[in-house]
Amino acid sequence: MAVKFRVFRYDPDNGKGAFFQEYQVPNEKGMTVLEGIFWIMENLDPTLAFRCACRAAICGSDAMHINGKYRLACQTQIDRLGGTVTIRPLSHLPVQKDLVVDMQPFFDNYKSIKPYLIPGDAPPEKEFLQSPRERARLDHHIDCILCGACYGSCPVAYGDPDYLGPHALLKALRFIDDSRDGAGHERLAMVASEFGVFRCHTIFNCKEVCPKDLNPTGAITRLKNKILAEKFPILKFLVR
Ligand code: F3S
Repeated sequence: MAVKFRVFRYDPDNGKGAFFQEYQVPNEKGMTVLEGIFWIMENLDPTLAFRCACRAAICGSDAMHINGKYRLACQTQIDRLGGTVTIRPLSHLPVQKDLVVDMQPFFDNYKSIKPYLIPGDAPPEKEFLQSPRERARLDHHIDCILCGACYGSCPVAYGDPDYLGPHALLKALRFIDDSRDGAGHERLAMVASEFGVFRCHTIFNCKEVCPKDLNPTGAITRLKNKILAEKFPILKFLVR
């Protein structure tokens, strides 16, 4: 049975402005939205622009707004959407063409938290050892694939492009929690800045949409607690 796709179209070079284009896509059991988009490109409209790579919910490049929620197109089955499929690009980022946005501001924010290990004063001669318990502290937040779904769903990021965003803050905690990293204080100072954790209004949209079931809201709360405990040692009990 065919399903109607309503797809956001925009080409800055043709002067037409943005509009929704409709297509009828033959649906088969288990077919994903990404497969539907490919079908449109291959059979109806080769000019449709979108991004994808792994098709297996690992690369994070096909995050889009699908039927009212930010999701990965390759992870979303058409049957589960119950009817017409409406697709928009990620929000808060400049649209380059159709479903493709410029991710530069998103990755600039990510880079600002220095997303790599910074060894402390005395790095080991040979290698860093990490116990299973220390490694377990990284579980979950290490799984972030930087798809941008959380960023697109966050109303604070919409109103304030300088806000670091849930992705960058969750990644900051990932490095602060890493026993091999020696820049915890520096990172806490970064996320305590004007555009860091205290801009978050605990809205939970980022947690709601994460395709990896991560909890950026919880990560931001933990960062806030760490910052407060550094400033007011009496609050050390807040830190996990
Ligand atoms: Fe935005 Fe998530 Fe905070 S949606 S306001 S980063 S809880």
